[in-house]
Amino acid sequence: MKDKLQKLKSEALAVIKAIKDDAGLVDLENRLLGRKAGELTELMKGLKDLSDEEKRTVGQLANEVKKEIEEELAVKKNELWEKNSSGELEKETVDISQPALPSQECGHFHPNSIVQKDLEDFFVSMGFKILDGPELESDYYNFAAVNIPADHPARDMQDTFYIKDHSDWVMRTHTSSVQVRAMQKYGAPLRMIVPGKCFRNESTDARHEHTFYQLEGVVVDKNITLAHMKGVLEAVAKHLYGSETKVRLRPKFYPFVEPGVNGEVTCFLCGGKGCRVCKYTGWMEIFGAGMIHPNVLKEGNIDSMKYQGFAFGFGLTRLVMLKYNIDDIRFLESGDLRFIKQF
Ligand code: PHE
Repeated sequence: MKDKLQKLKSEALAVIKAIKDDAGLVDLENRLLGRKAGELTELMKGLKDLSDEEKRTVGQLANEVKKEIEEELAVKKNELWEKNSSGELEKETVDISQPALPSQECGHFHPNSIVQKDLEDFFVSMGFKILDGPELESDYYNFAAVNIPADHPARDMQDTFYIKDHSDWVMRTHTSSVQVRAMQKYGAPLRMIVPGKCFRNESTDARHEHTFYQLEGVVVDKNITLAHMKGVLEAVAKHLYGSETKVRLRPKFYPFVEPGVNGEVTCFLCGGKGCRVCKYTGWMEIFGAGMIHPNVLKEGNIDSMKYQGFAFGFGLTRLVMLKYNIDDIRFLESGDLRFIKQF
């Protein structure tokens, strides 16, 4: 019986070593030590036929064997657990060097944003700050503050959307609405631009849209002249269309500037010779500008005897259309992905 026990022990230890998973371990444990038909349990049943003396020694040996097997089983259990848990960790690691899956599309800027960001960088490089203002604006900031009183005919040129039961609120018709806001907030000297959405009550066609973008600029300081204004606008034109570009200023009435001008640049397509895009004039109209009217400075709490300034407004949407050769303004706000994905 002693031999049988020794044999059982050495076989059991070898099998335990070879086990690779939890299920195998549980099976083996049952097979060896199971209370009902475990091999060791069965062997021990033979004890009752032995003499007292033998019972003692063999019983002791059987206990030792049992203990050793149990210890080995525990060691193996531990080993398997460690192996499994590190496997789990391995499964959970993320390979950050793996390229993104091709199906995950990456977004991109709208053409309006591309042109806007480019101009923002350019103006920041000249010391301008970038400001913002509300799109739903008071009648005061949109019109009255910029020298367009209630009965002024200039209001007809900028019909907009009014808010029911709030006749003094309008969707802003131009970014000039931020001129007086900025002066009141920051005072003089001031150098700022305002890119943003504007609205007009238009019947839409390829060149007119109820929603479009402008980029306003204001400079207020001592001894500012029309020459400074032309210098800045020329710098912008050259930045947009190359160093050969010229700027032409022609008188135009805007209530908030005096004198006021209409700004054109040499057509970048034909270089000034005349083509379809510039309607055979060689020039393209891209902004309005002028020296800020003293009434506007006054609304902004700036002393017009001490400070002068100029303001300009670019048709940002127009710049986008020219840059990308877009012949229908309605595409820009259409949300049509076939259009948007081209940029
Ligand atoms: N606000 C004018 C427009 O909407 C443009 C402009 C801005 C003109 C500043 C002069 C000075 O057309």
